[in-house]
Amino acid sequence: MSKAKYTITAALPYANGPLHLGHVAGVYLPADIFVRFLRMNDHDVVFICGSDEHGAAITLRAKKEGITPQEIVDKYNAQIGKSFRDFDISFDIFHRTSSPIHHETAQAFFKKLYDNGKFTEDTSEHYYDEEYNQFLADRYITGECPKCSNPSAYGDQCEKCGSDLSPTELINPKSTLSGKSPVLKTTSHWYLPMDRHEDWLREWIKEGKLDGVQQHDPKAWRNQVIGQCMSWIDGGLHPRAMTRDLDWGVKVPLPNSDGKVLYVWLDAPIGYISATKQWALDHNKNWEDYWTGDRKLVHFIGKDNIVFHAIIFPILLKDHGGLILPDNVPAYEFLNLEGDKFSTSRNWAVWLHEYMEAYPDKSDELKYVLTSIAPESKDSEFTWKEFQTRINSELADILGNFVNRALVLTQKYYEGSVPEKNELTDEDKRVLEEMSAIPDRISKLVYAYKLRDAQAEAMNLARLGNKYLAETEPWKLVKTDPERVKTIMNIALQITANLSIILQPFLPATAKKLSDFLNFTSSDWTKAGRDNLLNAGEKINSPTILFQKIEDELVENEVAKLKSSNPVESKFEPQKEAINFDDFTKMDIRLGTILTAEKVEKADKLLKLTVNTGVDIRTVVSGIAEHYSPEEVVGKTVSILMNLAPRKIRGIESQGMILMAENEEGKLSFMIPEKGFEAGGTIR
Ligand code: MF3
Ligand code: ZN
Repeated sequence: MSKAKYTITAALPYANGPLHLGHVAGVYLPADIFVRFLRMNDHDVVFICGSDEHGAAITLRAKKEGITPQEIVDKYNAQIGKSFRDFDISFDIFHRTSSPIHHETAQAFFKKLYDNGKFTEDTSEHYYDEEYNQFLADRYITGECPKCSNPSAYGDQCEKCGSDLSPTELINPKSTLSGKSPVLKTTSHWYLPMDRHEDWLREWIKEGKLDGVQQHDPKAWRNQVIGQCMSWIDGGLHPRAMTRDLDWGVKVPLPNSDGKVLYVWLDAPIGYISATKQWALDHNKNWEDYWTGDRKLVHFIGKDNIVFHAIIFPILLKDHGGLILPDNVPAYEFLNLEGDKFSTSRNWAVWLHEYMEAYPDKSDELKYVLTSIAPESKDSEFTWKEFQTRINSELADILGNFVNRALVLTQKYYEGSVPEKNELTDEDKRVLEEMSAIPDRISKLVYAYKLRDAQAEAMNLARLGNKYLAETEPWKLVKTDPERVKTIMNIALQITANLSIILQPFLPATAKKLSDFLNFTSSDWTKAGRDNLLNAGEKINSPTILFQKIEDELVENEVAKLKSSNPVESKFEPQKEAINFDDFTKMDIRLGTILTAEKVEKADKLLKLTVNTGVDIRTVVSGIAEHYSPEEVVGKTVSILMNLAPRKIRGIESQGMILMAENEEGKLSFMIPEKGFEAGGTIR
């Protein structure tokens, strides 16, 4: 039987913000491990991703940052793409849905379904924001969820209970643009009549059959995925609008449809196809080969994407015809962080780009920890403490320790030449037998999408090696039985060579280091398990430390950073944009003593002051008359910004500014030093 062919996709991240570890652990890293494994096993595989650059996620972010949607997607596409490269996620292509090839592909896809009568048209009333002149769908409208009473459900979905909603179901709806109650206005849209698809979807999801023909093994699908789909279908599917009245997106390719674009959840998954097209163009391939025939399409996604990948996109693919439907949709649950949900708005997150900036040579450490705790079947949690423990007591103490011993002793006893294997003891045989069984066990787990267990199984080989050396103690035996030690060291080196193969999907940088130490490289999975990967007499190199231990300080700093960047509910303005030290030192702030004060005529708020600054006596006009009387201020030593360019206020030249504190009611107070400080003292 020839090897199964695969088209693997990882959910296209919205280009509206950076990636955090939750995204990585629950989509991109498992997809990458799976793909690296497939490549080593000689499967024909293409690994597709890109950024999702349309929809309200983008336009609302643009509004918030005060820049255009195009600027937003350019910024985050670049940032996300870089962090994937730095972290070494091995996409064949990281594309964009704003590209012309995507727009063409999505339009042709829509047109084909339209021409074949797969959509219905409906003219009806929709919510509209009169201030912004915009219809309000999806994230443009919020209100109370009719199912769980969550007060901030969106027009398409309640994130609290997971219900699929339409704007008219929301109780007390409000526009997210103006904050006002919307009005109803008539518009027309094209709908996907999902209700007509319930029967085949049931059979396909539950039994894996399409038109009676077996397509996939439903037992290979995760329970949560089947469960969520069935509860949707059993609850009754409804027609869903496939177009929107917006100006950002893929234009509807029909006459008289100005101002209409494709629904982002129609356009985005087609992004998998357009990305494949671009990759095929770049590599002289036919994109159709990757979307037709005998090939497994696998979508790695987070659980909030299940309905779109297991129901809506399959309907679209089937309606289109000639294209394969997913073989599996491995969806991940959510990763939490230090006892709380990841939250972009509260900045409760570990950002991938920040991690890679801080620890550029620790990508494998992060991969290892995230795979160990991957939320495969239930939500899980990342803590910096566990990050430390897993690295120190597993990567460093087991894998690192074993490899280091094997290589250092080989240098010491044999000047770096692989020693001869002599007669095997029962223990040797047992160890080699265990080693030979590991690759198959890993394979079974990977094909079943159990990557967490698969990685643990790979680590078991390091454990086996570590234990073998600890029990045989070659460093003691070398004095009494050097022949025996040769066999032990040969076996330890064969184990190390095996590790350089089986760790590749999980810890590619570490596997590469092992290869460099051993002068041995193989990416052929079928070689793993053998006890003769290295020949006696071959030269190996001196090792370097594989994993540095993580200090308590790192854990403390990271936790402190998280807590400090997580603002409390506040009635005060948020912090302004950062300035550098030079900006700060440009300001000349000092203490000054007020010598005289008088009201400025016809100006209720102003006092004209003369101030002794220690270097001169100058005039300052200050807006404090409603808070202090002239009599009160004379004699006070206060803070003054000296080098503010002079300006005329009510005909009086003001030479500086008195600094004031303001409370929540707008009351002002001088900034006065403790006793013993006099005019001229600087403030910094
Ligand atoms: N951008 C979506 C999200 O982050 C995922 C899109 S996946 C695709 O939830 F299939 F639509 F591309
Ligand atoms: Zn709800």
